[in-house]
Amino acid sequence: MKLPALARRDVLATERMDAPDCDPAALARTYARFGIVNALVAGWQVTYLRHLRPLLRRDRPVDVLDVGCGGGDVARALARWARRDGYRLRVLGIDPDARAHAWATGRPAVPGVSFRRALSADLVAEGRRFDVVLSNHLLHHLGDAEFAALLADSRRLARLRVLHSDIARSRWAYALFAAAAVPLAPGSFIRADGLTSIRRSRTAAELRAAVPPGWRVERPWPGRNLLVHEPPHGPGPGPAHDVAGT
Ligand SMILES: C[S@@+](CC[C@H](N)C(=O)[O-])C[C@H]1O[C@@H](n2cnc3c(N)ncnc32)[C@H](O)[C@@H]1O
Repeated sequence: MKLPALARRDVLATERMDAPDCDPAALARTYARFGIVNALVAGWQVTYLRHLRPLLRRDRPVDVLDVGCGGGDVARALARWARRDGYRLRVLGIDPDARAHAWATGRPAVPGVSFRRALSADLVAEGRRFDVVLSNHLLHHLGDAEFAALLADSRRLARLRVLHSDIARSRWAYALFAAAAVPLAPGSFIRADGLTSIRRSRTAAELRAAVPPGWRVERPWPGRNLLVHEPPHGPGPGPAHDVAGT
C-alpha cells in the first residue's frame, strides 16, 4: 500500500459517512462497529481512570456531556464503568446528525444515558452546565472556526474538566489502521473514513499550536491526542465538588 503524504493535515478530505446521501445500510454498520474501533484505538478506559473517575462522587451523580456522540458507545461505556465502580454518571450524548441520533436512541437503553440531536452551541444558549464535557473523534471533523467555537463552548459548559480525545496523525498510525481495519471494512465506512480521519487529524504539535492558553495536550500513547482543560479557579458555580475516593 502506498502511503499518502501525511506531512500536512488534509483538511479537504471528506468522510463518506458525512455525505447526506451515503448508503444507509453501510452507515448503520459503521455506527455498529464504532464500539469495536473505539475500544481498540481510543483508550477511554485509561482516560476514564485518569481523568473521570477521580471526579466521581458517591453522594450524587456527576453530569457528563459527550459532544458529537455518533452512535453513543462512548457515552454508554462511561456510564457502565462508573456504575461498576459504584458511582452514578449522567451522560447526555449530543449529535447534530439525525441519522446518528436515530441510531443512538435505537440501542438498548443504559441507565443514566440520554441522547439529543443538538450542537454544543444550543446547550450554551440554554445556559446548561455539566461537570465534564468530552468528545471522541470530533476534533478532526471541524474547520478552524468550528474548532475554536467548540473550545469556547466546552469552557462555558464544563464546571470541572474538558476532555477532547482524537487521533494523532502519523505514518505508522495510518499504516497500522489500514492493516488492522481490514476485517471491519466490508459493507461499512470504517476503514475508508478511519484513514481519512487520520489524514484530517492534527499532530500533537499542531494541536498545541491551535489551542488558546489554558489548554494542554496529553499523549496517552503515540497515536492519540487528549486535549484537556480545567477551570483555573476551581469548579466555579454549581454543587460543591470534593474528590471521591478511588
Ligand atoms: C467520527 S464520528 C464520532 C462519533 C463518536 N464520538 C465516536 O467516537 O464513536 C463524528 C461525529 O461528530 C458529529 N459532528 C460533526 N460535526 C459536529 C459538530 N460541529 N458538533 C457536534 N458534532 C459534530 C458527526 O455527526 C458524527 O456523528
